[in-house]
Amino acid sequence: MHKIIAANWKMYKDRTEAATTADEIAAALPETLPKDRQIIVFAPFTAIDRVALAFREYKALSVGAQNFYPAVEGAFTGEISVGMLRDVGAEWVLAGHSERRQVFGETDEMVARKAIFALSHGMKTMLCIGETLEEREQGNLYAVLERQLTAFFAARPEGMAGEALVGRLAVAYEPVWAIGTGRVAGPGEVREAHGVTRTLLEKFIGETGKKLPVLYGGSVKPDNAGALIALDNVDGLLVGGASLEAQSFLQIIGA
Ligand code: 13P
Repeated sequence: MHKIIAANWKMYKDRTEAATTADEIAAALPETLPKDRQIIVFAPFTAIDRVALAFREYKALSVGAQNFYPAVEGAFTGEISVGMLRDVGAEWVLAGHSERRQVFGETDEMVARKAIFALSHGMKTMLCIGETLEEREQGNLYAVLERQLTAFFAARPEGMAGEALVGRLAVAYEPVWAIGTGRVAGPGEVREAHGVTRTLLEKFIGETGKKLPVLYGGSVKPDNAGALIALDNVDGLLVGGASLEAQSFLQIIGA
């Protein structure tokens, strides 16, 4: 399985800044990129086309969108469709990022509906899951990950077999308490959560669950990326703050 290194630029960077960073990443890649790595940049909407332009000659580089509304089109003022995103070069979408859940009130059901919609409409989808500090301290890690993944697998239409998700669905485990806090989960915590995630994926889709990449996210930096990516069941990294500077993101890619 290719390791996926993904950048989530969140609500940072105007088009000029995005272009500079994307061009720097693309220019450095021939030297930096280990063969088995796939890179995705989840850019702000207004920069997706420009990042796609920078990446157009590199198969290993893709652009994603951070959000969308699960309808083909319609009277949904202020929303954006996956068709519109594909039109400007997005190949991936994020669903269920904890900031969407916490700041914008997206429920497990809404996240599941969005992820299924995106997959059904040809977008590769990165489904984010993870527990809050309170949930972890109450011993609810398994229950939370199970609840979040159950919502997704329960929403799956009959025709969408587990095999149909391979190469199209990635799961990102991001403990909420490690996002933007500088507090990275320790190796034991990451191993445990990724083991739980893998077990749950296998519960839902059997052996095929082994083929879905599970990424870790939360305070990933150049100095911890190598150790994280080497852990069992860690098939990639989803990087926020440390992906904003090309040099630091490139170091993580090469870790
Ligand atoms: P940080 O790397 O800034 O902690 O953000 C993680 C994240 O939310 C990526 O989606």
